[in-house]
Amino acid sequence: MGLLGKFFSNAGKPAGIMGRVMILGMNVFHARVANWGMSRINIAEPSEIAELGCGGGKNIRDLLVKYPSSHVVGLDYSPLSLQKARDRNRDMIASGRCEVVGGDVSAMPFDDGRFDLATAFETIYFWPGLARCFAEVRRILREGGHFVIVSESDGKDKPSLWFKSIIEAMNTYTPEEIESALKEAGFREIHTEHHESHSWVVIIAEK
Ligand SMILES: C[S@@+](CC[C@H](N)C(=O)[O-])C[C@H]1O[C@@H](n2cnc3c(N)ncnc32)[C@H](O)[C@@H]1O
Repeated sequence: MGLLGKFFSNAGKPAGIMGRVMILGMNVFHARVANWGMSRINIAEPSEIAELGCGGGKNIRDLLVKYPSSHVVGLDYSPLSLQKARDRNRDMIASGRCEVVGGDVSAMPFDDGRFDLATAFETIYFWPGLARCFAEVRRILREGGHFVIVSESDGKDKPSLWFKSIIEAMNTYTPEEIESALKEAGFREIHTEHHESHSWVVIIAEK
């Protein structure tokens, strides 16, 4: 793998100095798609939220602001992402509104039916098998709970296909492939929205 591939592989599991740079970049460069995705979430007052693949923790913070009565748990399997997410949300952790825990989305350390809402921003590209991970997300949601996926890739856009060509552990998916994996995992009421001028997508599914 070349230097570029090594650097961008940190998007999948940030580590070391390159990972620190990557997390800074993710918080900045994902902000536009994340803000758009966040604005499309119209779920009424979820009280327990899981932010999966939370990276540097920007979206944890934004969910805490969007839903002032909520408790948000960020999950990531990169120790560096966990550290950065905790740093960014230190005050909310201290006040008891937030936790940041280590774990893999394919086997999460959460009880069945704990969450009203689970979110996944810019992360499913790296998950080890969509159907398997989506089934695990469904397990941690209560009946009627929602899963929201926000991605800047629609599986056909040139930048993501280029990233996929240099990052070994990355996959890209079309909305149809994501919807099909959600159905396979047992989700219903699946709604997909495309951004009017970008390749960005938001997919919302119900348990
Ligand atoms: C591209 S970053 C996105 C971070 C953040 N969600 C954002 O939008 O800026 C992907 C994150 O997902 C995490 N991740 C990838 N696969 C994961 C898995 N199987 N379990 C837990 N975290 C995972 C990575 O460690 C990384 O922090």
